[in-house]
Amino acid sequence: MLEIGNLNAGYGDMPVLKEISISIGAGQIISVVGSNGAGKTTLLKAISGIIRSKGAIAFNHEVISNLQPHAIVRRGIVHVPEGRKIFPEMSVDENLMMGAFLHQKDYRRNLEKVFALFPKLAERRKQLGGTMSGGEQQMLAIGRGLMGNPKLLLLDEPSLGLSPLFTDVVFGAISEIRNSGVTVLLVEQNVYQSLRISTRGYVMETGRIVLSGTGVELLDNPAVKTAFLGM
Ligand SMILES: Nc1ncnc2c1ncn2[C@@H]1O[C@H](COP(=O)(O)OP(=O)(O)OP(=O)(O)O)[C@@H](O)[C@H]1O
Ligand SMILES: [Mg+2]
Repeated sequence: MLEIGNLNAGYGDMPVLKEISISIGAGQIISVVGSNGAGKTTLLKAISGIIRSKGAIAFNHEVISNLQPHAIVRRGIVHVPEGRKIFPEMSVDENLMMGAFLHQKDYRRNLEKVFALFPKLAERRKQLGGTMSGGEQQMLAIGRGLMGNPKLLLLDEPSLGLSPLFTDVVFGAISEIRNSGVTVLLVEQNVYQSLRISTRGYVMETGRIVLSGTGVELLDNPAVKTAFLGM
């Protein structure tokens, strides 16, 4: 569904991503894990057209490299950014409405799906986004993404800063989202939980993919165990 080949990208003269190749099949959860500054967020920005890149990005066999962000969203790639970035002065309902911008027709159906996935949002429809807890804001950010009818959902560190309880809720929701037919590219520092639910994973280090395999293979890999699992 998404094929990335020899992708290079950076900021100004500074290269960050170096010859990244990643393949994502429909209906999969693929995770990219790595430490701070590895380039995970930069990868998602390149896919969603926020920064320019060299190399190939193809979505359902169409080259989408360097299209404008709105053109990429229209094709069904929705990016839930790092740090949630919900609208703090808007209510839960209004935040979800913003996500539905391109898909007014499916508004009711998608709203029901989001509320089924996160019942807490249904209880808090009138609450301002900015007054919600970190975990609730993450649910809202994912919910807003789902209102945009994604075929491929890009999730940037959804569990960052969350309690163990909320982390479990978020990872459970990601599995449910995949089960509902949405493909997921997950970027995370919670290596254990991510690989556990992933079809395949990629380990990124200073802008390069240094290791890849099925989730199970990577969880069993000695280098992954030492670097990320404290074993
Ligand atoms: N807007 C920017 N301008 C210049 N350099 C940037 C910019 N954003 C990120 N970088 C640099 O690019 C590199 C990769 O950053 P990136 O945010 O992609 O890492 P990351 O893997 O997402 O890290 P984290 O886990 O901390 O979120 C870092 O060295 C960072 O300082
Ligand atoms: Mg990041």
